[in-house]
Amino acid sequence: MTVDTGRRRFLLGSASLAGLAAISGAAHGAGRRWTIPYGSAVRPGLLVTDPAYRAALVDACSIVVPEGGLKWADIRPTREAFDFEAGDFFVDFAAANAMAIRGHALVWAGAMPAWTASIGAAEAEGLLVEHVQAVVARYAGRIASWDVVNEPIAEDRGQPGDLRPSIWLDRLGPSYIAIALRAAAAADPSARLVLNEYGLEHVGGRDIVKREAFLALLRQLRQDDVPLHGVGLQGHLRGDRSIDRDALGALVRDVAALGLSVTVTELDVIDAGLPGPADAIDTVAASRVDDFLGAIFAQKVPDAVLTWGLTDRYSWVPTYFARRDGTPNRPLPLDDAYRPKAMMRVIERYCR
Ligand code: XIL
Repeated sequence: MTVDTGRRRFLLGSASLAGLAAISGAAHGAGRRWTIPYGSAVRPGLLVTDPAYRAALVDACSIVVPEGGLKWADIRPTREAFDFEAGDFFVDFAAANAMAIRGHALVWAGAMPAWTASIGAAEAEGLLVEHVQAVVARYAGRIASWDVVNEPIAEDRGQPGDLRPSIWLDRLGPSYIAIALRAAAAADPSARLVLNEYGLEHVGGRDIVKREAFLALLRQLRQDDVPLHGVGLQGHLRGDRSIDRDALGALVRDVAALGLSVTVTELDVIDAGLPGPADAIDTVAASRVDDFLGAIFAQKVPDAVLTWGLTDRYSWVPTYFARRDGTPNRPLPLDDAYRPKAMMRVIERYCR
């Protein structure tokens, strides 16, 4: 166990004993019950402050990913500095509990610190390569799978390569994706390299465009012989929209035909548009998850299923998609008292 050393003793503070107790109880956690690894995004800070949260994660998860801590905004406070404290703490926690670890995210339009706006075109490639190599190398052999590029596809047609506007697209053009993937492969040849995307599963609208653009990007990378191992389907499902099982199944089939694996990386149900009461929300949410996982599993068994959080107590959803009736959001498999909801039963059906 490596958490109780030096600076981290300070970081753990008064919660350290409870935290360490949770770790040592963990070796027998039910996180081992999965056939298909199931896990969750983790908020590293809560591992310190909330022992119940930590214990629930250890019980439920055989794979974890940090919700924050490895994003540019967390890890690159300045052009010169890397801050690995949250990342190291998270990786130590996961390793101490024998959990598999995903890394999120080396390149993303979001969560960029303000200083990156001043990155010039001539220096962009060097900075991007330096960043990817430094972060991947630090966790080589520990983080088995990386979201190298997160959310590459734009919401609408009209961008170069249908790619999402970002500093990297602006400075380097579409080649930023291959640059990042090659840098990651060089830094840890054994890491699985993933492109992670959302909005690929619903009926109609933007999802049709995004499916096409995403597949075209994957085909291009394959043609160019760029190192890439898998696709992340985030799965931020809209509770009030149907899953297009046929189109999602076709996408997964086409992805598999390219020799790429599939991971469900950020599953949750955005319930802002779903009428209450709680039972009704939970029933619809579980059926959306069933539709989503069913369409994927029918084509190719994913190498893991991760939800973007474990308990309704801690989720990004209320910040961005608060319910209009003022009741708490219910996006995740456990309720706010850590009781399993219908969604967890669905996940168990697929992953057990
Ligand atoms: C979100 C986190 O959950 C929030 O806590 C943070 O404030 C913003 O980012 N898709 C992603 C994730 O790939 O990185 C996002 O995470 C949610 C949507």
